[in-house]
Amino acid sequence: MSNGYAWPVRDQDPGYPTYLFDRLRREGMQTLEGAKAAGAYSVLEKALKELEPSQVTGMVKDSGLRGRGGAGFPTGLKWTFMPKFDDPRPRLMAVNADESEPGTCKDRVLIRQDPHLLLEGILLACYAMQCRGAYIFIRGEYVEEARVLFKAIEEGYRGRLIGKNILGSEFSCDIHLIRGAGAYICGEETALMEASEGKRGHPRPKPPFPAAAGLWGYPTTVNNIETLCNVPAIVANGPDWYRKMGTEASPGNVLAGISGHVKTPGIFEVPLGIPIRELIYSEKFGGGILGDRKLKAFLPGGSSSGFLPPSFLDTPLTHDDLKNTGSMLGTASVIVIDESASIIRAARVIADFYHDESCGQCSQCREGTGWLAHILKRIEQGRGKPDDLNTLLDACANMKGKTICVLSDAAAWPVELALKHFREEFEEALNKSSSSFSSPEDSGLQGALAGMGPAREPAREPAREPAREQSNAEGGES
Ligand SMILES: Cc1cc2nc3c(=O)[nH]c(=O)nc-3n(C[C@H](O)[C@H](O)[C@H](O)COP(=O)(O)O)c2cc1C
Ligand code: SF4
Repeated sequence: MSNGYAWPVRDQDPGYPTYLFDRLRREGMQTLEGAKAAGAYSVLEKALKELEPSQVTGMVKDSGLRGRGGAGFPTGLKWTFMPKFDDPRPRLMAVNADESEPGTCKDRVLIRQDPHLLLEGILLACYAMQCRGAYIFIRGEYVEEARVLFKAIEEGYRGRLIGKNILGSEFSCDIHLIRGAGAYICGEETALMEASEGKRGHPRPKPPFPAAAGLWGYPTTVNNIETLCNVPAIVANGPDWYRKMGTEASPGNVLAGISGHVKTPGIFEVPLGIPIRELIYSEKFGGGILGDRKLKAFLPGGSSSGFLPPSFLDTPLTHDDLKNTGSMLGTASVIVIDESASIIRAARVIADFYHDESCGQCSQCREGTGWLAHILKRIEQGRGKPDDLNTLLDACANMKGKTICVLSDAAAWPVELALKHFREEFEEALNKSSSSFSSPEDSGLQGALAGMGPAREPAREPAREPAREQSNAEGGES
């Protein structure tokens, strides 16, 4: 289907049930009239008339839906963390449309192509938790998506689907749209709330968790766009229907992105559990490796999920299976790297990204990301030092589990997996003199990885060489 996207959304019948992209195959979904003609808001209407809020939460809980923002936390369970309804404080939703993980652009398709599916999902979630307002925080670079969503919200207000006494019921809920200014860290849920409140997007220490004190200190639930777009189908068809798709521990469909060195990159709605080999090689999805070259590595869930070699190709795309490989499902955005590319360069590009995006509050992250980028760069340029691989691993160990948010861990994981599975390539680079070593051709990989985020300057030089034996003794800021 030609839909104006660089990355196509396929319109052929995939041969299994779908519910996220179904309406994308129809015309006019950006208007309220078109969306309503295709069934939008019928589930909300039914829920407001026939279901108690707790029944909606119960359905989502029983469906086993897990968050699609990266961490895979059970959605219904998260909703039950909100205070009981006799708590007089207003409760709110924060809707995460920041989508900045390199390799990831699935939420964007949903927002732009079917904004009313998202709004219906938000309203159902707000009804279930009795939230009086939802604040959508959208990535600053998503200019067209923000325009489409703003128009859909306006139409929703005019159609009495948003605001006071929705569809004549007792339920009232406002929806607000806030545009970000281009910082990856604002996708972290507490940074997102800080930024939504108009402050610098710095993550907050937890606890308190958002359900206790979120936006403006009020109880808040944070959910991802794709997560919320699952809700109308669950409430319409019931949890048993939903559990027939995917696997027992990871039910439902997921929007899988395939990018990098494949013939047909795109976003595909697939059942969780599909083998990664099928995603990369099937004609229905990635179509195989560009130029029929050999696969060297893939990252299964965005840049932080790290590098896996081809021996992991038959891993099912689920939270638990990928966790067992030492990687993770993350945003289910598979980045493919062929034999012509340098893993060292790919790791350096990713390290540069995290270094640029660290908010700098925690010394382990602020300094650690800088050192990863700095050392990888010198190895890439043939200036590596004999102890560099140990220094990298030491730095990674000191960056994990010690900081306010997990950006620091996310920066360490790809480096650790690169060294675990591709150590020989690093050792070979170290063994070559700077005059004889040069990285293999980039073949567009740098674009595939870096092109997802803003254009990057080279990594800044950290202040001084890290002292390996004392690198964990400092940094009490977090
Ligand atoms: C550095 C960082 C960036 C993140 N970026 C996003 C993002 O862009 N979109 C998103 O939905 N979640 C992102 N998350 C995860 C959110 O913190 C949060 O877990 C998620 O929005 C919850 O929604 P879900 O339960 O529906 O997945 C990020 C987390 C971290 C640590
Ligand atoms: S881990 Fe990094 S990004 Fe997260 S709060 Fe600390 S310094 Fe900021």
